[in-house]
Amino acid sequence: MTGTPGRTVVTGAAGRVAAAVREGLRDAGHLVLLDRLPPPPGYRARGNETWVRADIADPRALAEAFAGADAVVHLAGIPDEAPLPDLLRANVEGTHNVLEAARRAGVPRVVLASSNRATGNYPVDRTVTAADPPRPDGFYGVSKAAAEALGRLYADAFGLQVAAVRIGSLEERPTEARHLATWLSPRDCAGFFRAAVTAPGVTFVAAYAVSANARRFWDLSAGEAGLGYRPVDDAEAFAAEIPGGDPFWDGGPQGGAYAGPGALLPHLPDPGR
Ligand SMILES: NC(=O)c1ccc[n+]([C@@H]2O[C@H](COP(=O)([O-])OP(=O)(O)OC[C@H]3O[C@@H](n4cnc5c(N)ncnc54)[C@H](O)[C@@H]3O)[C@@H](O)[C@H]2O)c1
Repeated sequence: MTGTPGRTVVTGAAGRVAAAVREGLRDAGHLVLLDRLPPPPGYRARGNETWVRADIADPRALAEAFAGADAVVHLAGIPDEAPLPDLLRANVEGTHNVLEAARRAGVPRVVLASSNRATGNYPVDRTVTAADPPRPDGFYGVSKAAAEALGRLYADAFGLQVAAVRIGSLEERPTEARHLATWLSPRDCAGFFRAAVTAPGVTFVAAYAVSANARRFWDLSAGEAGLGYRPVDDAEAFAAEIPGGDPFWDGGPQGGAYAGPGALLPHLPDPGR
C-alpha cells in the first residue's frame, strides 16, 4: 500500500462516520460506497465513486463488491447500546462476514470501526493505552472488543492487514463535558482512516482515534507508531462554550452516561415476555 488509497470499499457508507471517511479518501483510485440504504440526501457521486446497495449479511454481494479492492473500511453496524443478540449479529457476525469476504477476495487490508466503548469502564483518571485489556462499558463495547479479536485472528491466521480504529466521539464540535476528552473532529477522523488505509507495514494495529484534546484519557502512541497519524484538533478550544460543573469529571467510568446499569437495563431480556 502506498501513500495514495487505491480501490477502497467503505461499508456503512450512508452513515455519519462514512461522511468523514469519504473526505479522507477523496483521491482514492476508486471508492465503492456500500450500504443497505440508498445514498443520504444531498449526496453527489464523484467521478471515482460507485454506490452499491447491499447488506453485509449477503456474502455474494460482498464478494462482488470486494473484487479487486486494495482495502475495505468496515463501518456498517449498530453504533450504540442494543440487546446483545442484535449486536452479536450486526457487529460480530457482520465483521466476520466482511473479514471472510476480504480473505476470499484477496483484499490485503481491512480497517475496522472499533470504539472507545470497548474500554469505557476504565475510570476517567486513568490514561488507557491500546495495549490495555478490554473493559467494555456495555454490550456494544463487548461487540467491538469481539470484532477487534476477530480482526486479530484474521491477521494472525491469514496474514490479513488489519487496523482497528477506536473512534472517540465524532462531532462537528464538542457540545458536552465528556467531549472535552473524547471529541474526534471530522478532519481528524478523515486523517486517521486515510492513514489506516494507506500506512505501510501494518500487520495488526488497534489505535484510539481521538483529537489531540488536552483532557483526553486515551494514549495516542499506537496511532502514531502504527498508522503514522498525529491528530491536529483540540476540544479545549471550545471549552468556554461548554457548561461547567458537569459531574463527569468527578470520577466514574470514561463511558460517562453510556456506562453503568442504567444504560444496560433497558436492553436486557424481559423474562416475563
Ligand atoms: N459516530 C461515532 O462517534 C462512533 C464512535 C465509535 C464507533 N463508531 C463506529 O463507527 C461505525 C459507523 O458509525 P456511524 O456513527 O456512522 O453509524 P451510522 O448508524 O450513522 O451508520 C451506520 C451505517 O451502517 C449501515 N448498515 C447497518 N447495518 C448494515 C448491514 N447489515 N448492511 C449494510 N449496511 C448496514 C446503516 O444503514 C448506516 O448507514 C459503527 O461501526 C460504529 O460502531 C462510531
